[in-house]
Amino acid sequence: MPGFTQEIHGVVITFFSTASAVGKTIISTNMAAELARQGKKVCLVDFDLQFGDVSNYLQILPQCTSFDLQQAMALQGSNVRAEEYLTPYEYHNVVFYVLAAPTKLEESYNIDADKAAGMIRQLQNVFDYVLVDTTSMFSKLNLELLDLSTIVSFLGIVDFIPTIKNMKIGTDTLKKLNYDKNKIRLILNRSNAKTRISIADVENLLGEPFYHILPNDFQAASRSIQDGVPLVLRSGGSELGDALRDLVARYTNRAYDDVTMDEDEGVSESWLSRIFG
Ligand SMILES: Nc1ncnc2c1ncn2[C@@H]1O[C@H](COP(=O)(O)OP(=O)(O)OP(=O)(O)O)[C@@H](O)[C@H]1O
Ligand SMILES: [Mg+2]
Repeated sequence: MPGFTQEIHGVVITFFSTASAVGKTIISTNMAAELARQGKKVCLVDFDLQFGDVSNYLQILPQCTSFDLQQAMALQGSNVRAEEYLTPYEYHNVVFYVLAAPTKLEESYNIDADKAAGMIRQLQNVFDYVLVDTTSMFSKLNLELLDLSTIVSFLGIVDFIPTIKNMKIGTDTLKKLNYDKNKIRLILNRSNAKTRISIADVENLLGEPFYHILPNDFQAASRSIQDGVPLVLRSGGSELGDALRDLVARYTNRAYDDVTMDEDEGVSESWLSRIFG
């Protein structure tokens, strides 16, 4: 467990989408691994509270989850150290930490958005990067997470019209939230999957270009899940692994330059009034 004494203010990167199965979990686990490979202190938080897959994708067996952390916070308040509820993922000399999703479905109901946001803020004090895997909905929890994030990776795939319609709802809603324009990064996953819909048409519809494009690579993606080893840690490489490394390089080279780090700027009103006001 990391024994950090000095408080830092880590970068929070949230992985969000308006459709399921677009790659939030595989991309967040790979970005966590790549950042850790580069020597950064990294925590990956599985806030897909009911159906989280991070532990499965990494083949770890957590002893503690966000449910235990929530209970401890309810009893002890700010004396709780969130970092004591994490599970390490280790592969050769690369290590990062996971705040696992509850193991029982009913436990997820006890984790409210405020407590969850408190967990992220605590983890920000001890990690360079806090990566957050989420679910595909504008829930109270996800809206809190979007607000407190430094960067939101909004993921999409171009497959069927309903997915694209939902991506449009997603980008329009994110615009209403009035964030710094560099905070939201539109990422297209599985770009060369068979589809008759053109990427340019989708970009026109969304009103902005994709920030980064990841290729479709079924074999590499499924092998990494089967083996429990993120693609970026594999020697030999794969097109998808390379594109994920490039994505991390872009984030780490530009994160501090591009992103307004003052969390309050432009988002002082609640997300509720910004969406419905
Ligand atoms: N670039 C890719 N190429 C091929 N397959 C991919 C790619 N990205 C993800 N997949 C596959 O798509 C499936 C869904 O990925 P993943 O679980 O990461 O999505 P998700 O957005 O987290 O889904 P959910 O909304 O259910 O949590 C997995 O089987 C994964 O292997
Ligand atoms: Mg997922």
